[in-house]
Amino acid sequence: MDWGMENRLKNLMGSDGHCFFMPIDHGYFQGPTRCLEKPGVTIAPIIQYCDALFVTRGVLRSAIPSSLNKPVILRVSGGTSMVGKNLANEEITTSIEDVIRCNASAVGVSVFVGSEFEKQTLLNLSKMVNACENYGIPVMAVTAVGKEMEKRDARYLGLACRIAAELGAKVVKTYWCENFDKVVCGCPVPVVMAGGPKCNTEKEVFEFVYDGMTKGAIGINLGRNVWQSPQPVPMAKALNAIIHKKASVKQAQDIFKEAKK
Ligand code: 5RP
Repeated sequence: MDWGMENRLKNLMGSDGHCFFMPIDHGYFQGPTRCLEKPGVTIAPIIQYCDALFVTRGVLRSAIPSSLNKPVILRVSGGTSMVGKNLANEEITTSIEDVIRCNASAVGVSVFVGSEFEKQTLLNLSKMVNACENYGIPVMAVTAVGKEMEKRDARYLGLACRIAAELGAKVVKTYWCENFDKVVCGCPVPVVMAGGPKCNTEKEVFEFVYDGMTKGAIGINLGRNVWQSPQPVPMAKALNAIIHKKASVKQAQDIFKEAKK
């Protein structure tokens, strides 16, 4: 791997090779998502516990100070909305020149495997890999399911992750599921877990994150379960401990309770 590519990838992670990416890209199809109406305000107290920010160029330029001392993963696919016909009908939204102007350390592209737009979104990924390889910029594939949340099982996610890796993604972001080791096992590049809609309890979040880490994930890209929590800072601290300090579920709960005080 070229030095620049390797350096960008390493900077996205801690020295342990694990990562806590903070996604605030939801507005690209959801509009002003709850608790993300003012993204700069939302992330100000929590970004210190994270390794990188996942964001669109619009929010980056309008809401994030350029003094940000964390690497940026730029969301570069989109073109659909919650109220439109099909969330899978994405194209590439951002040129490689703009990725470089934003000083991005990586880019993120969604693929909708099994959907009507499977080929289009897989080719979006391939085209972005082709452009980014010229400049040593890693591409993170996002195995998206749109509104079909029931698709999230090891067989489907394993298939989607493997295809994304085969097309050149350097990291794949996918959902946690039962038998997550099967997903990781079939994917030749590192896998990070997305959070999905907010869970009912903090413990549920800690449990799936801990399980995924023990089954081979390198980290998380988890947003709503942090910034939609009534206690975003304690959530971020506790998750950071699972990712970087090998904390158990019980230890994460204790860190959460302590930070709440
Ligand atoms: C939206 C995304 C988000 O980055 C991803 O879903 C992670 O955020 P959350 O933990 O809130 O699900 O790619 O398409």
